[in-house]
Amino acid sequence: MSITKAVVPAAGLGTRFLPATKALPKEMLPVVDKPAIQYVLEEAVAAGLDDVLMVIGRNKFSIQDHFDAVPELEANLQKKGDQKRLDEVVESSDLADIFYVRQGEPRGLGHAVSKAKSHVEGEAFAVLLGDDLIDESNYVLPDMIKAHEKHGATILALMEVPIDHIHLYGAAAVEKTDDPNIVKVTGLIEKPAAKDAPSNLAVIGRYILQPNVFSVLEETPPGKGGEIQLTDALQKMAVENIAGGVYGVIFRGRRYDTGDKLDYIKAILQIAVDRPDLGPDLTPWLKKFTAEL
Ligand code: G1P
Repeated sequence: MSITKAVVPAAGLGTRFLPATKALPKEMLPVVDKPAIQYVLEEAVAAGLDDVLMVIGRNKFSIQDHFDAVPELEANLQKKGDQKRLDEVVESSDLADIFYVRQGEPRGLGHAVSKAKSHVEGEAFAVLLGDDLIDESNYVLPDMIKAHEKHGATILALMEVPIDHIHLYGAAAVEKTDDPNIVKVTGLIEKPAAKDAPSNLAVIGRYILQPNVFSVLEETPPGKGGEIQLTDALQKMAVENIAGGVYGVIFRGRRYDTGDKLDYIKAILQIAVDRPDLGPDLTPWLKKFTAEL
């Protein structure tokens, strides 16, 4: 059965971006001229997932407002004949069928995903984490959906990272398959110290999950940081081969962690450099600026 639903957890507290995120959800921080979360939704829609459930927490009303129509703003732009801005404004409210569920208490990513149970109604579904932006030139979801069709299993996106960064991610133990871009995941550890990591393959924030994950999550005790970790549930599914086990698609493209200040700045620059309306002026300026450093 094809995958049509995406779940986007957006209930994190955004502590890495304080004080900017004191009143503004981190998902609403602009990357050039769109909030980070809009890129994630565009990626889901580009992969054919136009039913999106967002798991939100406190202070996230501006996310809902952003994806709603704003009739008075639209009428104003129409009156001015500003079609370009009107199209941009309408784009975010026409993007997808968006549903919301509240997480209640922030008890971890596994807990946030478990809130999607009744919405996904027994189907496999995608999870996209808002902090990870995948460049539109190299979206990974289409390959993950293909891998899901082939293996009928849980599919993760895995990326090689320097071993001294692995403590920031879920890390995977893997075995080769007959496809050089797909590995079988034999174990997972959430945020291990470099010396305990099974490899330098990090789980990045794209998942295709089997609906069986919900019953596993129900029995998953709090793990790292006292939170219910999705990685811990997936570790059990990998080791016990539940619902086809777990496979990983190796991602080698451009990805930004907008939850990290330095990567956030890099994301803005790289995306702006590639934009036809900004790149031609920004690129020579950047070259001059860096030459003078
Ligand atoms: C979460 C997951 C982690 C994964 C990461 C990807 O961690 O728990 O396994 O590697 O996302 O960005 P977070 O970054 O939310 O702490």
